[in-house]
Amino acid sequence: MLVIWIIGGPGCGKGTQCEKIINKYGFVHLSSGDLLREEVASGSPRGADLSKLMSQGLFVPTEVVLTLIKERIEKAKQENPNLKGVLIDGYPRELDQGLQFEKTVGPVDIVIYFEVANETLIKRLLGRAAAASVKREDDNEETIKKRIEIFNEKNGKIVEHYGSKVKKIVAEGDINDIFQEVTKCIDPLLKC
Ligand code: AP5
Repeated sequence: MLVIWIIGGPGCGKGTQCEKIINKYGFVHLSSGDLLREEVASGSPRGADLSKLMSQGLFVPTEVVLTLIKERIEKAKQENPNLKGVLIDGYPRELDQGLQFEKTVGPVDIVIYFEVANETLIKRLLGRAAAASVKREDDNEETIKKRIEIFNEKNGKIVEHYGSKVKKIVAEGDINDIFQEVTKCIDPLLKC
């Protein structure tokens, strides 16, 4: 089973591109943010703690997010023993998360990194918030800037550590053009 991590700043298009990837390749998509929001929506005591951190744009504890990811990978494997691949969207956010994943789940094959300028990230997320019927608590200018600041502080070490496994894609242009670049990263893995 292929393991692909999708990383990049808030609003870089991780979710948008993952949707296109699963349509083409049939992988399972696990978004760390979506898993956490589901936990919050469940009304559990753990969800209430997570909500406080997420609404401020801060990381939740790695143990929580990694446990949710592991549970979903196991479920996906049980449902489909021939599962071709899994896309982990929004994880790792810092190097230690990557190391813990590899220690307890298995090695990553590639890391797709969508690089987008801070100004574009802000514009996209404010645009998403303005268009949304249900607004995300963390999609306001102050929290968006905090999320970007944390991303910029932590992401470099991930890119440095994973070296040639990191496929950097400049993701400022058209969504379909960006997806073409994504396919160039994934197709060679399927030919092996
Ligand atoms: P998460 O939900 O992962 O949020 P994020 O990383 O901030 O990213 P977004 O989901 O907001 O954006 P995206 O990159 O998916 O972009 P999208 O495709 O939607 O995480 C939320 C929070 O959960 C974190 O802040 C943290 O608190 C916690 N968390 C999550 N993972 C964690 C972890 N591993 N450890 C600890 N805590 C964790 O696109 C955005 C907008 O842009 C859309 O409107 C879209 O239509 C538009 N768009 C996309 N591509 C383009 C394009 N090429 N051109 C123009 N517009 C575009």
